Amino acid sequence: MTQQQNKAIAILTSGGDAPGMNAALRSAVRTALNLKFKVYAIFEGYEGLIRGGNLIQEFNWASVGGILSLGGTAIGTARSMEFQTFEGRLKAAKNLIDRNITNLIVIGGDGSLSGANSLAKKWNQYLEKLLQEKQITPQQAHNNSQLSIVGLVGSIDNDMVNTDMTIGTDSALHRIVEAIDAINDTAASHHRTFIIEVMGRNCGYLALASALATSAEFVLIPENPPAEGWEDDMCELIQNNNMLGRNHSIIIVAEGALDQNGDRITSQYIKDVLSEKINCDARITILGHVQRGGSPSAFDRYMSTVLGYKAVNIFHDKSDNIEAEPKIVGLKNNRLNVFPLADAVKQTKAIPETLKKRDFSSVMALRGGHFEDMYEIFKIFSRALPHKDTTIPKLVNDSKKNIAVINCGWSASGMNTAVKTALRLAIHKGHNILGINNGFSGFLNREISLINNVKLEEYCANGGSFLGTNRDILDKVTFCQLANVIKEYQIDALIMIGGLSGYINVYNIYLSREQHPELKIPIICVPATINNNIPGTEFCIGADTALNTIVNAVDKIKYSSANHRRTFIVEVMGRKCGYLAMMTGLATGAEYIYLPEESLDLEDFQKDIKELNHAFANNRKIALIVRNEEANDIYDTDFLRKLYQRESKGLFDVRTSILGPLQQGGRPTVFDRITAIKLVDKAVDLIDDAFDDKNKDIKFLGLIGGKVISHDIEHFKNMVHVHNDRPKDQWWMKIRDIVKLLSSYRENN
Ligand code: F6P
Repeated sequence: MTQQQNKAIAILTSGGDAPGMNAALRSAVRTALNLKFKVYAIFEGYEGLIRGGNLIQEFNWASVGGILSLGGTAIGTARSMEFQTFEGRLKAAKNLIDRNITNLIVIGGDGSLSGANSLAKKWNQYLEKLLQEKQITPQQAHNNSQLSIVGLVGSIDNDMVNTDMTIGTDSALHRIVEAIDAINDTAASHHRTFIIEVMGRNCGYLALASALATSAEFVLIPENPPAEGWEDDMCELIQNNNMLGRNHSIIIVAEGALDQNGDRITSQYIKDVLSEKINCDARITILGHVQRGGSPSAFDRYMSTVLGYKAVNIFHDKSDNIEAEPKIVGLKNNRLNVFPLADAVKQTKAIPETLKKRDFSSVMALRGGHFEDMYEIFKIFSRALPHKDTTIPKLVNDSKKNIAVINCGWSASGMNTAVKTALRLAIHKGHNILGINNGFSGFLNREISLINNVKLEEYCANGGSFLGTNRDILDKVTFCQLANVIKEYQIDALIMIGGLSGYINVYNIYLSREQHPELKIPIICVPATINNNIPGTEFCIGADTALNTIVNAVDKIKYSSANHRRTFIVEVMGRKCGYLAMMTGLATGAEYIYLPEESLDLEDFQKDIKELNHAFANNRKIALIVRNEEANDIYDTDFLRKLYQRESKGLFDVRTSILGPLQQGGRPTVFDRITAIKLVDKAVDLIDDAFDDKNKDIKFLGLIGGKVISHDIEHFKNMVHVHNDRPKDQWWMKIRDIVKLLSSYRENN
């Protein structure tokens, strides 16, 4: 018997629901059970904690089965007024003590977390009062002398200081951007302006991120009210936009948007201004609660899972000084971040006060660097509007530089956003931009032209590559020809947006520069591939879209089986990199994941079949195996189907699904669009600097810890496993054990 066995953890969700709360609940419950805690779920948030009874239920492994893909919260939520009183919290304390619950996980927004803090802060007073009233025994008071609390921020608003993303924000952005893409279609057909109002209370994150991702013309957020006279600026912008060939406009307004006087800017006011000043008959769409609903995105499933796991481990290890004061676990710069709950809530709650004082610069600072960066890029973006002129200007022009942009590798959603960003920012900086069609072989064949802005803008929300792309790797003997093309077209710099084949071509250019001086131009590589197998970056453009597409497909596959006892083997892409397989397995609750990074032999499969047989004999209805396409040359998907079917002893049947090219298509997710914008923004900046310094460096970019980092090309070869076409360092392999731990086969073990 371990020390933990008489200890208990309770979990509740509170405040507005947020997609991903279920993933956090599942992860926390299973991690806790694995560590031999007794686990309680508290239904209906703090209301359930006050009322007790069957609103507090002991949970087992199966209690959280099948909830990973569900929106909302499986244990209900409420905004409790009673919990804000001493008497309410006293009842809550009694219910915790009666069950010997000394550890509490609260998943909710700042209001809910501040409630948790009040409970912890006055814990001794509740104990004393309950003792005095003989509601608890001295032994109970002794056993429960400490209540440890970990908060996970569940709110679509993304308004908590110290965390990059709160649970539900990414999913809400999925809903918002999907809606705006759809509105764009009808806006374009009618040549209309739309005003779209999004949620977020006092926080403009949802508005800002969706404006950036959809290239909206104008955004209004609480943190940075527009300057006096903004109404005229907005009208001028819309008119300019029309003149430049875009016949429709999108204005995004946060529900808490303010003007310089601290007064609300409503959607109706914007509509009236447009009508009065420029006779524009705009339409308003208030997206409302649709933003909070629906299945969680892959990112929300991943992040919430990791946060739930960490929360329980803090209790288990008594780490992070948890007994001293409540903590929040969040994700900052793609790393776990544990910080004091009270301070964070205090700072977050100070924001509305600071807004009231109209101290907007302090509010921007409180929101943090990521928010400010996005705002800066949006400002540039909205000034750097697409240009109407699509005729080819004189290529020989002393003051203008010619920057060429090329896509390489298989297409990845978000490549077009990257090209569009290059186009807008390069033109904004006074350069020409040339599009190279069909990868490096197209380059060699002189398939080069100015990019048609208007067409690209229209195409942009789609997947695929507007420029055309392939995986051709040039023979070094052709580099002499390539040098001629560069000279002929007077290409001063190149932005390569693509996968490993593009990197290899650029690396070979680097090696050939001494023989062919024309190749000595600045070149910046931007990672774009669904495989997420590029060194020097945690994320590649396109991988998030592919992952979400796969996860949605697997959700459907799982639901297809009704009452059959069935094991699905789903094969996903990735070549020799298991990122998509691993993250799909995590996000869909797969029982087994077969990765190329791990050697697999028959003994592994025997063990898995034994476990599956055991589970199906004990009433399991469905099991899921995710297999990377190159996990093993011999034990391929069909081999596994036959093997598992043969060995299932009639307990279950086996179906395979090879998802194929659908993984590469689709409209890019917000994450991929914003990643593309951030990376290319940096690429254009580096090229601009290179023109100033006459620096001819070749660099490749990456997103590491939320920041854009550049690496010198000479390090490229050392950072990849040459034969496996994947980076030596793969951050996501660190969560492999969590995924194994949470998979359902353990339920009967
Ligand atoms: O805090 C989440 C949130 O969705 C806000 O964006 C919004 O203002 C509010 O909750 C809506 O609250 P309710 O669901 O209670 O109407």
